[in-house]
Amino acid sequence: MMKVLVAESNEQNRNQLVQYLEDEQIHVLTANDGQEALEVWSNEYPKIIIMDVDSPDINGYSLIEEIRRRELDHTYIIVTTSDEDVILGRSFDVGADDFLSVPIRKTELIYRIKASEKVLSNQENQTVIYALAQLTETRDVETGKHLERIGLYAKVIATELNENPQYGSLISSQFIHHLSLSAVLHDIGKVGIEDAILRKTGIYTQEERKIMQAHTIIGANTIDKVADKYPFMGFLKMASEIARYHHEKWDGSGYPEGLIGEAIPLSARIVALADVFDALITERYYKPKYSFEESKKIILESSGSHFDPIIVEAFLKQEEAFKEIAAIE
Ligand SMILES: [Fe+2]
Ligand SMILES: [Fe+2]
Repeated sequence: MMKVLVAESNEQNRNQLVQYLEDEQIHVLTANDGQEALEVWSNEYPKIIIMDVDSPDINGYSLIEEIRRRELDHTYIIVTTSDEDVILGRSFDVGADDFLSVPIRKTELIYRIKASEKVLSNQENQTVIYALAQLTETRDVETGKHLERIGLYAKVIATELNENPQYGSLISSQFIHHLSLSAVLHDIGKVGIEDAILRKTGIYTQEERKIMQAHTIIGANTIDKVADKYPFMGFLKMASEIARYHHEKWDGSGYPEGLIGEAIPLSARIVALADVFDALITERYYKPKYSFEESKKIILESSGSHFDPIIVEAFLKQEEAFKEIAAIE
């Protein structure tokens, strides 16, 4: 059950908050002053705190600062306010997430709680995704901020494609959000490839190449298992597509299935360009670092063969953004 800590010095407000929250089957903890609030928080670890900041008993600003300093995972802090701009401004400066007007209205309170749950669960998802992606990086030879840059490139392309008459209708803000989250998982299947092959610096035998190429299928199948269990995590479907198809080529010469053109999911077509561009512009054990102009030239030459021409166009329009992202190391 969700726990909410109410640290409110005004008795009437406090009682009202407790009652409204308990009506919603929420487990409510209370504290009368800042010291007690900090103790309850560090023992019980409620994910949400509702508190007033302007009473001397609570000493809210330093309480927020102290929590931000100590927390390992984000605690969502809602401050109650009778609408004084100064109080709100300072609260947000020290780390409050949201506010609630006094006198307390039940509907407003409930919607604030709902909004906070969304933010908290998004943060949890992102933590898990990055942990998984990080795992790939520990085994992979592609180090540095490759994964972070891939997410950013993909987002830039999708945002640009949103303006394109042909692709705009396929892209929504949710698509862009899911894409930037799931692009970082594209190579997660490499965790399942043995070191002797993954880290081999010479030329692959045909057999080894086949095993290496299986990282697409291993990754997608792993994500599919999670997606079956957690169907409400919408981005996993896209993450699976990207893992499976990011090595497909527009002309059908890619792997694992040799899909052609628009049969390749749009998300995977976008990540394909992002992934190759980043490999070109950074140093890899098998190649030196290419300049932006050289990398761009190779991408342009591969338009219509490796890459979807419309995605290459979007890349061209956003080349300045690509340059900036490439500088993140
Ligand atoms: Fe890959
Ligand atoms: Fe990659």
